[in-house]
Amino acid sequence: MIKVAFYDAKAYDKPSFERFGGEHDMQFRFLETKLNEDTAELARGCSAVCVFVNDTVNAAVIDKLYDCGIRLIALRSAGYNNVDVHAAFGKIHVCHVPAYSPYAVAEHAMAMLLTSVRRIHKAYNRTREFNFSLNGLTGFDFHGKTAGVIGTGKIGRIFIDICRGFGMKVIAYDRYPAPDSGIEYVSLDELLARSDVISLHCPLTDDTRHMIDTDAIAKMKKGAVIVNTSRGGLIDAEALLEGIKDRKVGAACLDVYEEEADIFFEDRSGHILNDELLARLISMPNVIVTSHQAFLTEEALNNIAETTVNNILSYFEKDGLCDNELCYRCGHIERCKKERKEKCF
Ligand code: NAI
Repeated sequence: MIKVAFYDAKAYDKPSFERFGGEHDMQFRFLETKLNEDTAELARGCSAVCVFVNDTVNAAVIDKLYDCGIRLIALRSAGYNNVDVHAAFGKIHVCHVPAYSPYAVAEHAMAMLLTSVRRIHKAYNRTREFNFSLNGLTGFDFHGKTAGVIGTGKIGRIFIDICRGFGMKVIAYDRYPAPDSGIEYVSLDELLARSDVISLHCPLTDDTRHMIDTDAIAKMKKGAVIVNTSRGGLIDAEALLEGIKDRKVGAACLDVYEEEADIFFEDRSGHILNDELLARLISMPNVIVTSHQAFLTEEALNNIAETTVNNILSYFEKDGLCDNELCYRCGHIERCKKERKEKCF
């Protein structure tokens, strides 16, 4: 039996993981706590850990897991910016779920955008109070507007298709443009200057951290709407708040926040929020925040569990080879030049 310590477990994770794991003699030790240096020891007796976006998987945690006998870190997410893959090299193998439902995330981005621009969140609250006034609910047509998409991978491209369905003009910026994709690529500066709506769909890396900062906001059209369903660190949240207060940014739709790790995914309604910046952002009438919810569909949860279980099985039962293993030399599984039939170590 393969035993897996499952960190940061939520009620919605368990049914799909128990179902797919149960089919393969895999037992999950569901732990509500997040993985960090203090909690790594809880994995002792297991051979793999399953982690999510806000678990800490730095060099110290990797060393502790290795001492506990862990040989595989199975991310149940696409993004892996929270894992020090270079520190894992030579010790613990790391795999992720490259795609589970890019539709879930792209559709959530559009849902937030429509909600914000057409003031659906405000209308919903009003009519529940039998307030049928339309004052302050004026939006704008998407048709004919320009959507600027940063990152044209799996999610970005679906978002592009959705925008085109609304009759929007789409321009995009990607550090690695996709040839023959029919996408109109422009420089980041041109995208910022021309877009009515800017949606972020690139990973968080040293290059992309705070790509939306004071300078970037200064280059935007007045009233531009920013959507972030990727990673919070792509946006300098203080700069965003200033842009909103200056009336430069028209609205912000945030599914992620740089300091979300100790806040999101939990019910904090009975507590005082210890993050003044987030509290101030949420208090703005033109900011919508969802708590890293974009992935949360039935289809995505099933795909996540199935792929994660298969990743773990292929590592422990099929010669240690796993298609979804990260490359520890370059850290970029998609562009890795190495033959996927070999392992880094
Ligand atoms: P992907 O790997 O298919 O596409 C990412 C794109 O970003 C690629 O085209 C890549 O060339 C581009 N890129 C890389 N570096 C760049 C840079 N410096 N500047 C501009 N573009 C750059 O990834 P996918 O599946 O589309 O996911 C995108 C992001 O969405 C993930 O990195 C993850 O952080 C986030 N995500 C968020 C979820 C949520 O629930 N909110 C769920 C799943 C993913």
